[in-house]
Amino acid sequence: MSKPTHILLGQTLSFSGDPFLTPFADSVTVEQRGAVVLGDGKILAIGPADEIAAPEGVKVDDYGDGLIMAGFVDAHLHYPQTGIIASWGKRLIDWLNSYTFPEEARLADPDYAKEIAKRYFDLALANGTTTSLSYATIHPSSVDAYFTEAQSRGVRALAGKTCMDRNAPDNLLDTAQSAYDDSKALLEKWHGVDRLGYVITPRFSPTSTPEQLSALGALWAEHPECLMQTHISEQHEEIAWVKDLFPNARDYLDTYEAHGLLGERAVFGHAIHLTEREQARIKEVGAGLVHCPTSNTFIGSGIFETARMKADGQRVGLATDTGGGSSFSMLRTMAAAYELSQLKGSPLHPAQLMWLATCGSAGVLHLGDKIGNLAVGMEADLVVLDLASTPAIAQRSQRAGDIWEAIFPTIMMGDDRATKAVWIGGKAVRP
Ligand code: GUN
Ligand code: ZN
Repeated sequence: MSKPTHILLGQTLSFSGDPFLTPFADSVTVEQRGAVVLGDGKILAIGPADEIAAPEGVKVDDYGDGLIMAGFVDAHLHYPQTGIIASWGKRLIDWLNSYTFPEEARLADPDYAKEIAKRYFDLALANGTTTSLSYATIHPSSVDAYFTEAQSRGVRALAGKTCMDRNAPDNLLDTAQSAYDDSKALLEKWHGVDRLGYVITPRFSPTSTPEQLSALGALWAEHPECLMQTHISEQHEEIAWVKDLFPNARDYLDTYEAHGLLGERAVFGHAIHLTEREQARIKEVGAGLVHCPTSNTFIGSGIFETARMKADGQRVGLATDTGGGSSFSMLRTMAAAYELSQLKGSPLHPAQLMWLATCGSAGVLHLGDKIGNLAVGMEADLVVLDLASTPAIAQRSQRAGDIWEAIFPTIMMGDDRATKAVWIGGKAVRP
């Protein structure tokens, strides 16, 4: 039995089920005066504060009305795009060419990549995001920069070298062979080191030749323990382009499947405009989908129907998609998911939004047994939210009739000012 080192007191939010599938009474618990006991980087106990005694010598942090919950899990983002977030006026392909590719080329400089990685993790932690799955650039040193920064902070983080061997500027192209070789070397260097995970990363079908997709499919077959991430069916123009580039494919998903890039550990970003066949096949395989709502409105991509996809039995997580997404905040991201769900006539409940940003994303990353929930044995990566972080939020939550009404204004209007504390591996990194 590990030795307790800290006890955190406050309101606690934990899940015992999926609130899309199970009534809230059976899937989510909010303890008004709860306690979370930490030791050895893990959660050792959780329960009502009056049932948990503080052993001698254990440090007690009392957050009052603060909401103690699992840290947010951002399941799809591009840390190299940190500096170009909120770039105006383009749809996906033009946005990539005008803003993204020129900035990603700058990360050829390892010092610049280090600076951006540091800036990214500062922003993520300020917003209570404790695990991130990022794309790097084509440069192996950009993967090193991200993992080195994550390792020095002790955070759980995943990423991969973005692979592209066509339809991008010359200075951002690799080849089928170099993508395989570089990805393999990075995987061997980083996967499973401390809290880091390597993710095989073809950017998307338009920027990879069939040869490159096959090479990465072969690498994945050699390392089935790794995740594979890519983009799918984000915009109609993109889907039409894929059709032109892969005339023999049944659909967009088939461009991945035909090259060994479909499996349970596949993580597909966006997945807005899937055909019936694609949706059924993804479900059959058990691959994960990542909803990126601020990106989908910002780049003008369309509406991912979260409630419909969850009702269909899809595995769904939530992500900022920095810098196509317009915020580093998972609160703002939940707000955007809520707004889009309203446009489709099926408003997501705050319990479902919180689940997507924690358990849902962790599940898509196959890390649901380690992160994404307050439960005994889970890693102690936590965020404590101030549910009255601005005057506008405070006056609304003050008149709340129940805990969800108290939480919802923070989801809709909260930002990094709501982050009262962040714990990583059982240590407070932001007091
Ligand atoms: N599709 C291919 N690359 C990207 C990217 O960097 N961002 C988004 N949103 N979509 C993409
Ligand atoms: Zn993306």
